[in-house]
Amino acid sequence: MAEKIAIIGTGLVGSGWAVVFARAGCDVALYDAGPGAAAKGREVVATQLRDLAAHGLVGEDPDTILARVRVAGDLADALDGAVYAQESTFERTDVKRQVFAEIDAVIGPDTLVGSSSSGIPASAYTDHVGCRARCLVAHPVNPPSLAPVVELVPAPWTAPETVKAVRALMERVGQAPVEMTREIEGFILNRLQGVLLMEAWRLVEEGLATAEDVDKTVSQGLGLRWAFMGPFETIDLNAPGGVADYARRLGPLYHSIAASTAEHRVWDETLIGKVEAQRREVLPEAELAARRAWRDRRLMALARHKKDAEA
Ligand SMILES: NC(=O)c1ccc[n+]([C@@H]2O[C@H](COP(=O)([O-])OP(=O)(O)OC[C@H]3O[C@@H](n4cnc5c(N)ncnc54)[C@H](O)[C@@H]3O)[C@@H](O)[C@H]2O)c1
Repeated sequence: MAEKIAIIGTGLVGSGWAVVFARAGCDVALYDAGPGAAAKGREVVATQLRDLAAHGLVGEDPDTILARVRVAGDLADALDGAVYAQESTFERTDVKRQVFAEIDAVIGPDTLVGSSSSGIPASAYTDHVGCRARCLVAHPVNPPSLAPVVELVPAPWTAPETVKAVRALMERVGQAPVEMTREIEGFILNRLQGVLLMEAWRLVEEGLATAEDVDKTVSQGLGLRWAFMGPFETIDLNAPGGVADYARRLGPLYHSIAASTAEHRVWDETLIGKVEAQRREVLPEAELAARRAWRDRRLMALARHKKDAEA
Protein backbone atom coordinates (compact mmCIF):
# COMPACT_ATOMS: atom_id res chain seq x y z
CA MET A 1 0.00 0.00 0.00
CA ALA A 2 1.19 3.50 -0.81
CA GLU A 3 2.68 5.49 2.06
CA LYS A 4 0.46 8.33 3.26
CA ILE A 5 1.96 11.79 3.59
CA ALA A 6 0.39 14.94 5.07
CA ILE A 7 1.41 18.39 3.80
CA ILE A 8 0.58 21.09 6.34
CA GLY A 9 0.76 24.54 4.74
CA THR A 10 0.41 24.39 0.97
CA GLY A 11 2.04 27.61 -0.23
CA LEU A 12 5.13 27.79 -2.41
CA VAL A 13 7.12 25.12 -0.55
CA GLY A 14 4.27 22.87 0.64
CA SER A 15 2.95 22.43 -2.91
CA GLY A 16 6.49 21.62 -4.08
CA TRP A 17 6.73 18.93 -1.39
CA ALA A 18 3.42 17.48 -2.56
CA VAL A 19 4.96 17.04 -6.02
CA VAL A 20 7.99 15.25 -4.53
CA PHE A 21 5.94 12.72 -2.55
CA ALA A 22 3.19 12.15 -5.13
CA ARG A 23 5.58 11.54 -8.03
CA ALA A 24 7.33 8.94 -5.85
CA GLY A 25 4.04 7.04 -5.47
CA CYS A 26 2.86 8.31 -2.07
CA ASP A 27 -0.74 9.29 -1.28
CA VAL A 28 -0.63 12.96 -0.35
CA ALA A 29 -3.19 14.89 1.74
CA LEU A 30 -3.06 18.70 1.64
CA TYR A 31 -4.08 20.89 4.58
CA ASP A 32 -3.85 24.67 4.86
CA ALA A 33 -5.52 27.07 7.30
CA GLY A 34 -6.11 29.69 4.57
CA PRO A 35 -9.55 29.53 2.92
CA GLY A 36 -9.24 27.72 -0.43
CA ALA A 37 -5.45 27.58 -0.04
CA ALA A 38 -5.14 23.79 -0.19
CA ALA A 39 -7.22 23.62 -3.39
CA LYS A 40 -5.01 26.37 -4.86
CA GLY A 41 -1.96 24.39 -3.77
CA ARG A 42 -3.29 21.37 -5.65
CA GLU A 43 -3.57 23.51 -8.82
CA VAL A 44 0.07 24.52 -8.39
CA VAL A 45 0.94 20.82 -8.05
CA ALA A 46 -0.90 20.12 -11.33
CA THR A 47 1.04 22.86 -13.15
CA GLN A 48 4.39 21.71 -11.76
CA LEU A 49 3.68 18.11 -12.72
CA ARG A 50 2.85 19.13 -16.30
CA ASP A 51 6.10 21.15 -16.52
CA LEU A 52 8.13 18.25 -15.13
CA ALA A 53 6.48 15.83 -17.57
CA ALA A 54 7.35 18.17 -20.47
CA HIS A 55 11.03 17.85 -19.43
CA GLY A 56 10.86 14.07 -19.03
CA LEU A 57 11.29 14.32 -15.27
CA VAL A 58 8.36 12.15 -14.17
CA GLY A 59 7.83 8.52 -15.06
CA GLU A 60 4.02 8.61 -15.22
CA ASP A 61 1.23 10.62 -16.76
CA PRO A 62 0.90 13.85 -14.69
CA ASP A 63 -2.85 13.26 -14.16
CA THR A 64 -2.16 9.81 -12.69
CA ILE A 65 0.25 11.40 -10.22
CA LEU A 66 -2.16 14.22 -9.45
CA ALA A 67 -4.88 11.68 -8.62
CA ARG A 68 -2.77 10.70 -5.59
CA VAL A 69 -3.03 14.27 -4.20
CA ARG A 70 -6.20 15.17 -2.29
CA VAL A 71 -7.40 18.16 -0.32
CA ALA A 72 -8.02 17.10 3.30
CA GLY A 73 -11.13 18.19 5.18
CA ASP A 74 -9.13 19.29 8.23
CA LEU A 75 -5.81 18.71 9.99
CA ALA A 76 -6.92 15.44 11.62
CA ASP A 77 -8.06 14.14 8.24
CA ALA A 78 -4.70 15.08 6.66
CA LEU A 79 -2.76 13.29 9.41
CA ASP A 80 -4.99 10.20 9.47
CA GLY A 81 -2.75 7.19 8.78
CA ALA A 82 0.17 9.38 7.67
CA VAL A 83 3.67 7.96 8.10
CA TYR A 84 5.09 11.47 7.77
CA ALA A 85 3.89 15.08 7.84
CA GLN A 86 5.77 17.97 6.25
CA GLU A 87 5.00 21.27 8.00
CA SER A 88 5.44 24.25 5.65
CA THR A 89 3.61 27.15 7.32
CA PHE A 90 4.97 30.67 7.82
CA GLU A 91 8.56 31.18 9.02
CA ARG A 92 7.39 32.52 12.39
CA THR A 93 8.07 30.91 15.75
CA ASP A 94 4.60 31.80 17.12
CA VAL A 95 2.85 30.28 14.07
CA LYS A 96 4.95 27.11 14.17
CA ARG A 97 4.43 26.72 17.96
CA GLN A 98 0.66 26.91 17.42
CA VAL A 99 0.72 24.53 14.42
CA PHE A 100 2.81 21.94 16.28
CA ALA A 101 0.37 22.10 19.25
CA GLU A 102 -2.52 21.52 16.80
CA ILE A 103 -0.64 18.63 15.18
CA ASP A 104 0.13 17.12 18.60
CA ALA A 105 -3.56 17.10 19.51
CA VAL A 106 -4.53 14.81 16.62
CA ILE A 107 -1.37 13.00 15.52
CA GLY A 108 -1.22 9.18 15.51
CA PRO A 109 1.39 7.30 17.54
CA ASP A 110 3.73 6.53 14.61
CA THR A 111 3.62 9.68 12.45
CA LEU A 112 6.87 11.64 12.12
CA VAL A 113 6.90 15.40 11.47
CA GLY A 114 9.48 17.41 9.54
CA SER A 115 9.42 21.20 9.39
CA SER A 116 10.46 23.12 6.26
CA SER A 117 11.85 25.89 8.53
CA SER A 118 14.53 27.89 6.74
CA GLY A 119 16.44 28.78 9.86
CA ILE A 120 14.41 28.55 13.06
CA PRO A 121 15.53 25.40 14.91
CA ALA A 122 12.88 22.85 15.91
CA SER A 123 13.69 23.32 19.61
CA ALA A 124 12.06 26.79 19.38
CA TYR A 125 8.64 25.35 18.52
CA THR A 126 8.47 21.69 19.61
CA ASP A 127 9.52 21.88 23.29
CA HIS A 128 5.87 21.96 24.45
CA VAL A 129 4.47 19.00 22.47
CA GLY A 130 4.11 15.34 23.47
CA CYS A 131 5.28 14.09 20.06
CA ARG A 132 8.53 16.11 20.15
CA ALA A 133 10.78 13.02 19.88
CA ARG A 134 9.19 12.50 16.44
CA CYS A 135 9.80 16.09 15.23
CA LEU A 136 12.80 17.61 13.43
CA VAL A 137 13.66 20.17 10.77
CA ALA A 138 13.61 18.90 7.18
CA HIS A 139 14.65 22.03 5.31
CA PRO A 140 14.31 21.91 1.51
CA VAL A 141 15.53 24.15 -1.26
CA ASN A 142 12.89 25.79 -3.41
CA PRO A 143 11.52 24.13 -5.50
CA PRO A 144 12.08 20.78 -3.70
CA SER A 145 10.98 18.89 -6.83
CA LEU A 146 14.05 20.25 -8.68
CA ALA A 147 16.61 20.78 -5.92
CA PRO A 148 16.75 17.50 -4.01
CA VAL A 149 18.84 18.41 -0.97
CA VAL A 150 17.01 18.37 2.36
CA GLU A 151 18.71 19.33 5.62
CA LEU A 152 17.74 17.13 8.55
CA VAL A 153 18.34 18.95 11.83
CA PRO A 154 17.31 17.27 15.08
CA ALA A 155 16.25 19.16 18.22
CA PRO A 156 17.98 17.98 21.41
CA TRP A 157 14.96 15.71 22.08
CA THR A 158 14.52 14.31 18.57
CA ALA A 159 14.92 10.52 18.75
CA PRO A 160 17.80 9.14 16.63
CA GLU A 161 15.28 6.70 15.09
CA THR A 162 13.27 9.71 13.84
CA VAL A 163 16.28 11.08 11.95
CA LYS A 164 17.04 7.63 10.58
CA ALA A 165 13.47 7.01 9.41
CA VAL A 166 13.06 10.46 7.81
CA ARG A 167 16.41 10.07 6.07
CA ALA A 168 15.29 6.71 4.65
CA LEU A 169 11.95 8.18 3.54
CA MET A 170 13.65 11.13 1.83
CA GLU A 171 15.96 8.74 -0.01
CA ARG A 172 12.98 6.59 -1.07
CA VAL A 173 11.25 9.60 -2.62
CA GLY A 174 14.39 10.71 -4.49
CA GLN A 175 15.59 13.58 -2.29
CA ALA A 176 19.21 13.99 -1.13
CA PRO A 177 19.18 14.23 2.68
CA VAL A 178 22.07 15.71 4.63
CA GLU A 179 22.27 15.53 8.41
CA MET A 180 23.43 17.91 11.11
CA THR A 181 24.51 16.49 14.45
CA ARG A 182 22.91 19.39 16.36
CA GLU A 183 21.08 22.67 15.83
CA ILE A 184 22.70 25.88 14.63
CA GLU A 185 20.99 28.95 13.18
CA GLY A 186 20.77 28.82 9.37
CA PHE A 187 21.73 25.13 9.21
CA ILE A 188 24.32 24.30 6.50
CA LEU A 189 22.82 25.80 3.36
CA ASN A 190 21.95 29.26 4.59
CA ARG A 191 25.20 29.53 6.55
CA LEU A 192 27.14 28.88 3.32
CA GLN A 193 24.88 31.18 1.32
CA GLY A 194 25.17 33.80 4.06
CA VAL A 195 28.97 34.00 3.75
CA LEU A 196 28.73 34.43 -0.02
CA LEU A 197 25.98 37.06 0.26
CA MET A 198 27.85 39.09 2.90
CA GLU A 199 30.84 39.31 0.59
CA ALA A 200 28.72 40.07 -2.50
CA TRP A 201 27.07 43.05 -0.77
CA ARG A 202 30.44 44.24 0.55
CA LEU A 203 32.06 44.24 -2.92
CA VAL A 204 29.18 46.33 -4.31
CA GLU A 205 29.09 48.65 -1.26
CA GLU A 206 32.77 49.44 -1.63
CA GLY A 207 32.32 50.08 -5.35
CA LEU A 208 34.80 47.33 -6.20
CA ALA A 209 32.42 45.66 -8.68
CA THR A 210 28.87 45.94 -9.98
CA ALA A 211 26.10 43.60 -8.81
CA GLU A 212 25.95 42.29 -12.39
CA ASP A 213 29.63 41.34 -12.43
CA VAL A 214 29.42 39.70 -8.99
CA ASP A 215 26.49 37.62 -10.29
CA LYS A 216 28.38 36.78 -13.49
CA THR A 217 31.35 35.54 -11.46
CA VAL A 218 29.05 32.91 -9.99
CA SER A 219 26.86 32.09 -13.03
CA GLN A 220 29.86 31.89 -15.42
CA GLY A 221 32.40 30.59 -12.93
CA LEU A 222 32.00 29.22 -9.42
CA GLY A 223 28.40 28.10 -9.92
CA LEU A 224 29.12 25.90 -12.93
CA ARG A 225 31.11 23.51 -10.77
CA TRP A 226 28.67 23.77 -7.89
CA ALA A 227 25.97 21.99 -9.89
CA PHE A 228 28.14 18.87 -9.57
CA MET A 229 30.39 19.26 -6.53
CA GLY A 230 30.77 21.18 -3.30
CA PRO A 231 33.58 23.40 -2.00
CA PHE A 232 35.70 20.56 -0.62
CA GLU A 233 35.65 18.50 -3.81
CA THR A 234 36.26 21.69 -5.82
CA ILE A 235 39.53 22.43 -4.02
CA ASP A 236 40.49 18.75 -3.94
CA LEU A 237 40.56 18.92 -7.77
CA ASN A 238 42.18 22.36 -7.94
CA ALA A 239 45.70 21.53 -6.73
CA PRO A 240 47.97 18.82 -8.14
CA GLY A 241 48.21 17.08 -4.76
CA GLY A 242 44.55 17.46 -3.78
CA VAL A 243 42.90 19.15 -0.83
CA ALA A 244 45.93 19.20 1.51
CA ASP A 245 48.12 20.66 -1.23
CA TYR A 246 45.47 23.33 -1.95
CA ALA A 247 45.12 24.20 1.74
CA ARG A 248 48.88 24.64 2.12
CA ARG A 249 49.24 26.71 -1.06
CA LEU A 250 46.19 28.96 -0.67
CA GLY A 251 45.40 28.81 3.05
CA PRO A 252 47.30 32.07 3.76
CA LEU A 253 45.29 33.93 1.08
CA TYR A 254 41.95 32.81 2.54
CA HIS A 255 43.06 33.56 6.10
CA SER A 256 44.09 37.04 5.03
CA ILE A 257 40.72 37.60 3.29
CA ALA A 258 38.85 36.29 6.35
CA ALA A 259 40.79 38.63 8.64
CA SER A 260 39.98 41.61 6.40
CA THR A 261 36.26 40.76 6.35
CA ALA A 262 35.78 39.76 9.98
CA GLU A 263 33.80 42.88 10.69
CA HIS A 264 30.39 42.72 9.07
CA ARG A 265 28.25 45.68 8.13
CA VAL A 266 24.47 45.85 8.13
CA TRP A 267 22.82 46.19 4.71
CA ASP A 268 21.47 49.72 5.23
CA GLU A 269 18.85 51.41 3.06
CA THR A 270 21.47 53.29 1.00
CA LEU A 271 23.23 50.06 0.10
CA ILE A 272 19.96 48.21 -0.52
CA GLY A 273 18.93 51.07 -2.86
CA LYS A 274 22.24 50.80 -4.73
CA VAL A 275 21.92 47.07 -5.37
CA GLU A 276 18.20 47.38 -6.14
CA ALA A 277 18.88 50.09 -8.75
CA GLN A 278 21.54 47.94 -10.42
CA ARG A 279 19.28 44.89 -10.47
CA ARG A 280 16.23 46.76 -11.81
CA GLU A 281 18.36 48.12 -14.63
CA VAL A 282 19.04 44.59 -15.91
CA LEU A 283 15.69 43.14 -14.79
CA PRO A 284 12.66 45.44 -14.42
CA GLU A 285 10.33 44.51 -11.55
CA ALA A 286 7.54 43.57 -13.99
CA GLU A 287 9.78 40.84 -15.42
CA LEU A 288 10.60 39.12 -12.11
CA ALA A 289 7.91 36.42 -12.45
CA ALA A 290 8.90 35.59 -16.03
CA ARG A 291 12.54 35.31 -14.98
CA ARG A 292 11.56 32.99 -12.10
CA ALA A 293 9.76 30.76 -14.62
CA TRP A 294 12.89 30.86 -16.83
CA ARG A 295 15.02 29.84 -13.81
CA ASP A 296 12.75 26.85 -13.17
CA ARG A 297 12.94 25.77 -16.84
CA ARG A 298 16.75 25.97 -16.72
CA LEU A 299 16.72 23.95 -13.47
CA MET A 300 14.55 21.33 -15.19
CA ALA A 301 16.99 21.08 -18.08
CA LEU A 302 19.84 20.78 -15.57
CA ALA A 303 17.95 18.11 -13.60
CA ARG A 304 17.44 16.22 -16.86
CA HIS A 305 21.15 16.51 -17.65
CA LYS A 306 22.17 15.33 -14.17
CA LYS A 307 19.76 12.39 -14.44
CA ASP A 308 21.25 11.41 -17.82
CA ALA A 309 24.80 11.83 -16.48
CA GLU A 310 24.05 9.46 -13.60
CA ALA A 311 22.35 6.86 -15.81
N1 LIG B 1 10.21 30.08 -0.10
C1 LIG B 1 11.38 29.46 -0.04
O1 LIG B 1 12.26 29.64 -0.89
C2 LIG B 1 11.64 28.46 1.07
C3 LIG B 1 12.67 27.50 0.93
C4 LIG B 1 12.88 26.57 1.94
C5 LIG B 1 12.09 26.60 3.08
N2 LIG B 1 11.10 27.54 3.20
C6 LIG B 1 10.28 27.51 4.43
O2 LIG B 1 9.07 26.83 4.14
C7 LIG B 1 8.01 27.36 4.96
C8 LIG B 1 6.88 27.82 4.06
O3 LIG B 1 7.35 28.86 3.22
P1 LIG B 1 6.58 29.30 1.89
O4 LIG B 1 7.54 30.11 1.09
O5 LIG B 1 5.93 28.11 1.28
O6 LIG B 1 5.45 30.27 2.48
P2 LIG B 1 4.02 30.60 1.88
O7 LIG B 1 3.63 31.90 2.48
O8 LIG B 1 4.03 30.47 0.38
O9 LIG B 1 3.08 29.42 2.45
C9 LIG B 1 2.76 29.26 3.81
C10 LIG B 1 1.38 28.61 3.89
O10 LIG B 1 1.13 28.24 5.26
C11 LIG B 1 -0.26 28.46 5.51
N3 LIG B 1 -0.46 28.58 6.96
C12 LIG B 1 -0.15 29.61 7.77
N4 LIG B 1 -0.50 29.32 9.05
C13 LIG B 1 -1.05 28.08 9.04
C14 LIG B 1 -1.59 27.22 10.03
N5 LIG B 1 -1.66 27.63 11.30
N6 LIG B 1 -2.02 26.00 9.66
C15 LIG B 1 -1.97 25.60 8.35
N7 LIG B 1 -1.48 26.38 7.36
C16 LIG B 1 -1.03 27.59 7.70
C17 LIG B 1 -0.58 29.72 4.75
O11 LIG B 1 -1.98 29.86 4.52
C18 LIG B 1 0.23 29.54 3.47
O12 LIG B 1 -0.55 28.91 2.45
C19 LIG B 1 8.66 28.45 5.81
O13 LIG B 1 9.07 27.93 7.05
C20 LIG B 1 9.84 28.86 4.95
O14 LIG B 1 10.88 29.49 5.68
C21 LIG B 1 10.85 28.45 2.22
